[in-house]
Amino acid sequence: MTFIYDWLAKIGYTHPLHPVFVHFPIGLTAGAFFLMLGFLLLKQSSLQISSRHVALLALLFLPFAIVTGIMDWQRFYAGVWLPEIKIKLTLAITLFLLLALVIWLGLRKTSANGILLALLTLAVVNIGALGYFGGELVYGSRVPKAPVALQAGQRIFEGNCAGCHPRGGNIIVPQLPLRSAPQLNEFGTFLAFLRNPKMPDRTTGLMPAFPASKLSDQEVRQLYLYLRFAFVESRREEMMPSPEMSLQ
Ligand code: HEC
Repeated sequence: MTFIYDWLAKIGYTHPLHPVFVHFPIGLTAGAFFLMLGFLLLKQSSLQISSRHVALLALLFLPFAIVTGIMDWQRFYAGVWLPEIKIKLTLAITLFLLLALVIWLGLRKTSANGILLALLTLAVVNIGALGYFGGELVYGSRVPKAPVALQAGQRIFEGNCAGCHPRGGNIIVPQLPLRSAPQLNEFGTFLAFLRNPKMPDRTTGLMPAFPASKLSDQEVRQLYLYLRFAFVESRREEMMPSPEMSLQ
């Protein structure tokens, strides 16, 4: 599997694979639903046949989306069982079963179209939820949640840093993640770094500087406390803020 991603990186493709494949089953599922709805409203039998064919295509493409999803999960989330991953896997398997049921019932001439529409409605709700939790995975939890006292710092992180440092990583220079940065050990070092970021060898890298006009010393302090909570203390204390931590 690493081989596939390494090879893709050689030709300049470094993204996840799932987004490329996921639109086929998702779009086709929605198509099957609307064709069935059209059949029930307009009573044109060709729409019913189309709905069944489109549902079959959705079922055939779904495994590609599931497999690339699992591959991306291993590659980009290190196979960690995040809640969103559990939900998405459950939803994907449910979608597979729903589509299989739609096709099987459709083949039996006696089956009621109302039931087919109900199943396809569930399938459409399912793909909506799959999309929602996909978004949660990519955007929702780039940032660990903070207790109220640290929320100002969390907002500064979301607004200024999380784009390049999602989940405390580093999308530009992955070997220099925020979560294990030596600058988080002491506030003075952290402040100096933000004002004038440097690579470990003291050369200038790609990290933008944050002058006082962008983030005041007070804001940098709030940010620092939040980062310590989110990425340093959490490793020791399972996401609980230490009692002596305050904004002073
Ligand atoms: C445009 C992308 C980008 C943004 C925005 C950004 N950084 Fe960085 N950051 C980097 C890069 C790239 C590096 C690697 C060093 C370099 O290139 O200067 C880095 C390195 C760091 C390091 C040192 C990591 C190490 O292990 O040595 C810290 C600490 C850090 N950033 C904190 C922050 C904070 C805090 C913010 C928000 C105020 C922020 N960064 C915003 C790209 C960014």
